[in-house]
Amino acid sequence: MSAPAVTSNDIILTGDRTTGPLHLGHFVGSLQNRVRLQDVCKQYLLLADAQALTDNMGNIAKVRDNVIQVALDYLAVGIDPAKSTIFIQSLVPELTELFSYYLNLVTVARLERNPTIKDEIKLRGFERDIPAGFMTYPVAQAADITAFKATVVPVGADQIPMIEQTNEVVRKFNASVDAEILVECRALVPENGSRLPGIDGKAKMSKSLGNSLTLGASADEISKAVKMMYTDPNHLRVADPGQVEGNVVFTYLDVFDTDIEKVAEFKAHYQRGGLGDSVIKRYLEERLQALLEPIRTRREALAADPAAVMEILRQGTDKAREQTAATLDAVKRAMGIVYF
Ligand code: TRP
Repeated sequence: MSAPAVTSNDIILTGDRTTGPLHLGHFVGSLQNRVRLQDVCKQYLLLADAQALTDNMGNIAKVRDNVIQVALDYLAVGIDPAKSTIFIQSLVPELTELFSYYLNLVTVARLERNPTIKDEIKLRGFERDIPAGFMTYPVAQAADITAFKATVVPVGADQIPMIEQTNEVVRKFNASVDAEILVECRALVPENGSRLPGIDGKAKMSKSLGNSLTLGASADEISKAVKMMYTDPNHLRVADPGQVEGNVVFTYLDVFDTDIEKVAEFKAHYQRGGLGDSVIKRYLEERLQALLEPIRTRREALAADPAAVMEILRQGTDKAREQTAATLDAVKRAMGIVYF
């Protein structure tokens, strides 16, 4: 089933937790898409420091320091602050206020059934010790989305339960006040599934798994990452037939090389035998160096003037607050709790 196309009437809200700089997986899974979508419709990009704190109160400095790192990544890949509004979540108190009202529309049982939360509880080893803020972050996310009247939320497949829960909040709120105040949204999931495996072959590229390649990686780091890349462990001699499925080098070539015929040729040769890992790795490395060099250069230039980056975020945050204040006002008026 393909989702309806994004049009100029849509409003996009999406963002990233600021737990670390972004990597190639983000580039393929979301950043490229955002660069494209900013020419189609209004787009808000949230630096989700407050959400990141829901399971990082032991690492506050990390969350804070990565606000500018993620902003640098956005700007370096071509997100244009004249087209996309980039803002800092913790500086928008209206989001927290909306969140507090929405919490009354969601049951604990419903939160416990959210499949993404369930998985994350397992992953992080929480049981009943889960921070209440973490447990309820889907509701905070509903506030993020509805505050901007967003109609489209580009997310990975794992975030679809958040969109469902957001729309439940929207319907319950509108029913509670008997007016169409909040707007339902739809998820926009990348068509090719766009999840890049880690360089070790694990399903997901992730900083915490140590299998990622950041967007600011040096030429040397790129080179090292490619050399370490998981291929076919049974491909011991060049002459041996090799396996292409699950071979990270080929998965990456499928994603990053536009020369489809050349890749098909390489695959056939590798499967037959006679093509060494070092040859395809060298070829992939050239592609990755060419992709990341201009991003790194832009990133370094931007990082040299942090005040200018913070000014972009200040202006984006001011704009975001105008919008969220208008929604909060409409919400409170609908509830009849505007007293003076
Ligand atoms: N949950 C997202 C992440 O893990 C960040 C985020 C916060 C978000 N609020 C959002 C994404 C609203 C989309 C919509 O990176």
